[in-house]
Order: sequence, then structure tokens, then C-alpha cells
Amino acid sequence: MSHRSSFQSSDMFPREIDIEICLKTLKIYQKMEGDVNCVVWDASLVLAKYLETICQKKPDFLSGIKVLELGSGLGVVGLTAATLGAQVTLTDLPEALPLLRLNINENKSKIGSMGGYAIAESLVWGDSSSEILKEEFDMIVLADCVYYEEAIDPLIQTLQCLNNTITKKPIIYLTQELRDSDIQKRLWDTFYEKLSEFFYVEKIPEDEQHANYRSPDIVLLRINKK
Ligand SMILES: C[S@@+](CC[C@H](N)C(=O)[O-])C[C@H]1O[C@@H](n2cnc3c(N)ncnc32)[C@H](O)[C@@H]1O
Repeated sequence: MSHRSSFQSSDMFPREIDIEICLKTLKIYQKMEGDVNCVVWDASLVLAKYLETICQKKPDFLSGIKVLELGSGLGVVGLTAATLGAQVTLTDLPEALPLLRLNINENKSKIGSMGGYAIAESLVWGDSSSEILKEEFDMIVLADCVYYEEAIDPLIQTLQCLNNTITKKPIIYLTQELRDSDIQKRLWDTFYEKLSEFFYVEKIPEDEQHANYRSPDIVLLRINKK
């Protein structure tokens, strides 16, 4: 059974995302209605385009490396990394996986033609029994994953587990849209403070990001374990 047959095509619409340096266009299906994992968030475009910007200067930056994406949603960041040559495991809550897998399937041939690879697995933040935490990754990416209070500690715990159980310490790239409400500001400050206890956190200036995909409202961080 094809992945698409379990979805009504009238519920979905595609968004095309150009990866300029390799002249490929990703087709990402979004849903008309649904949870936060059914739409492409701007923070994912900023991170995907940042990876592309680095590859413009260092063409082998992602070639063959193992990348883990947390809270992938529709998979823009992970699928971009895979199209740029990485071996990517995209993860999210179990209920997000059917649409994520549909998007992987839709872009499979483009990814394969660039030597990359993408699979989707469930990884719920804070679940320390996940087999994924035993794997070694060179890089972890996550976009717009800090938006509700209950997830802050589990998300930091997962980032720590991914650094503690393995010998190699992966570099982490994170983008987050900074929203205006007091609750969201407080959430971000709390997350940033807790993250900084365990990790070195460096803000990547806007002038190092993609010229057309950057915003003062979206922070991009490079993070390393202390
Ligand atoms: C705002 S969306 C961002 C999606 C995608 N990264 C993007 O930027 O387009 C947040 C994502 O985190 C996932 N998520 C939320 N809580 C989670 C949890 N406890 N464990 C794993 N994923 C979670 C959601 O399902 C959703 O896909």
C-alpha cells in the first residue's frame, strides 16, 4: 500500500522547497487542518537553508554523516540534510510518523540520487528507553521545538542522553521562533538557561545565515556538550 493512499488528497497540499545548490526541489505535504506537526514552520526553513549555506562553502559538510532530527514535523530540515548527502533519522511523536513517512517517500529518489538516506522513527522526548539513544550521531538538528512547558525538561534530558551514551559528541543546531507572548518568552528563557547549564551555546549571527531565510525573530544556535 502506498503511503499516500491512507490520506485524503483533498486534506493535503504540497509545498515546494528549492535546494538551490543541488538543483533539487523537495515536495512537502502539509495538512489543511491538524496539530503543530502538520505544517512547515518558518524556523525549519531557516535551519534547512543554513545547512545549505554551509554546504555552499564546504560541499562535503553533510556527505555521509549521521544526523538525527528531533521533533521533525513534516521533515523539512531532515529531508534537506538527506538531500545534501547525510544519513538522517527523522523523529517525532508516533502520531506524526505517517505524514512524515509520506514526505520521505515523496522525496526518496531525489535523496538517493544525492547519496543521502532518510528514515522516520518515533522518539518521544524524555523516553530514556529508546534504542535511538544508543546510536552514534555526528549532528542533531531541531527546529521550533520549544513551545510548551512540560516538554522543556524531557527535551533537555534527551539532548543530554544523546551526548552521554556515546563516545562521539554530536554538534547540535537548533532554531526557534521567539514569539511575543509573555508565556512563550518565559518558556524560551527557562529553556535557554537550563540548556546553558549543560551545553556551550553559541548564537549564529544573521549575517552568517542564508540571505533570504533569516529573521530577527528566529534564533539559530550551535550547541556543544560541556
Ligand atoms: C512546532 S512543531 C515543529 C515541527 C518542525 N520541526 C518544523 O519546524 O516545521 C514541534 C514538533 O515537535 C513535536 N513534539 C512535540 N512534543 C514532542 C515530544 N514530547 N516528543 C517528540 N516530539 C514532540 C511535534 O509533534 C511537532 O512535530
